[in-house]
Amino acid sequence: MSPYPLPRMRRNRKSPWIRELVAETKLDINDLVLPIFIKEGKNIKEPVASMPSVYRYSLDEALKIVKSAYSLGIPAIALFPSIDKKFKTEDAEESYNRDNLICRAIKSIKDKIPGIGIICDVALDPYTISGHDGILIDNYVANDETINILVKQALCQAESGCDIVAPSDMMDGRIFAIRGALDQEGFKNTAILSYSAKYASKFYGPFRDAVGSRSSNSECDKKNYQMDYRNSKEAIRQIEHDIKQGADMVMVKPGMPYLDVIKTASETFSVPLFAYQVSGEYAMLKWASDNGCFSFIDVLCESLIAFKRAGANGIFTYGAIEIAQFLQK
Ligand code: PBG
Repeated sequence: MSPYPLPRMRRNRKSPWIRELVAETKLDINDLVLPIFIKEGKNIKEPVASMPSVYRYSLDEALKIVKSAYSLGIPAIALFPSIDKKFKTEDAEESYNRDNLICRAIKSIKDKIPGIGIICDVALDPYTISGHDGILIDNYVANDETINILVKQALCQAESGCDIVAPSDMMDGRIFAIRGALDQEGFKNTAILSYSAKYASKFYGPFRDAVGSRSSNSECDKKNYQMDYRNSKEAIRQIEHDIKQGADMVMVKPGMPYLDVIKTASETFSVPLFAYQVSGEYAMLKWASDNGCFSFIDVLCESLIAFKRAGANGIFTYGAIEIAQFLQK
């Protein structure tokens, strides 16, 4: 074999400036969405036991976090409620109470920090006794009956000023129903981010602790509506369905174990694509770094870059503030 041309791959890795120059993927503060757990009360900053350095905040405390996210340049937050047990019912009525925790939070954030985008989960799991994302009829999560409630929930959020409603419930046809209702009620500019390729994943464990949606009786098995993790073609069909129904943006979730799905989705569709570094992924990195395996910020950065490399436009991460502080330096 001829010695020429003789490529030396290491030439482009020689110094920091050349590595910067040739870097194919950049992570930007503008790519980040910060999920925040809120609960009733005042002066509350309550640790989530299975997620080190993540808290449930009362609204006054949450506002401080939103302020710091905004001043770091984080474009949007995603709100999740931890609801008092007394508000949980079989039919999740609290989810469409116009004065519920989420609606009050949206109004007060919009009032005090109008420049930050607000994304709200549309799903019933914080509000049902079962912890399921929909209502149970004959021990089955009933699709169409659930959609009727999701539509009311999305309308309440839009009315309160939510910018992007994000259905994460995985009922069939919910995007179409929600889009129609929003348009009809005058919320034409409220966007829909569909949690389209949402897998039935145990990586959501710490999140379910945070919002209290772990089922009390039977194991909360969401496999009859969330996706089977053995499938990837199905994710593409699911995303296609949601785009046809009117989704403005779509999500793949969890993130790191599903990079192949993110990659295929980004190559197949032109719609903005989000990845969610879910609670269990974040917790793994935290627990391991707290125990001396590696530096948290380094693995956080590496894992978020992986989402971008795979083709995600934006990323939901509990580490948004930490990574934004790091990127700002
Ligand atoms: C609720 C919802 C879940 C997550 C986001 N929205 C949990 C679930 O479906 O049980 C998970 C997020 C995370 O784990 O960080 N529909």
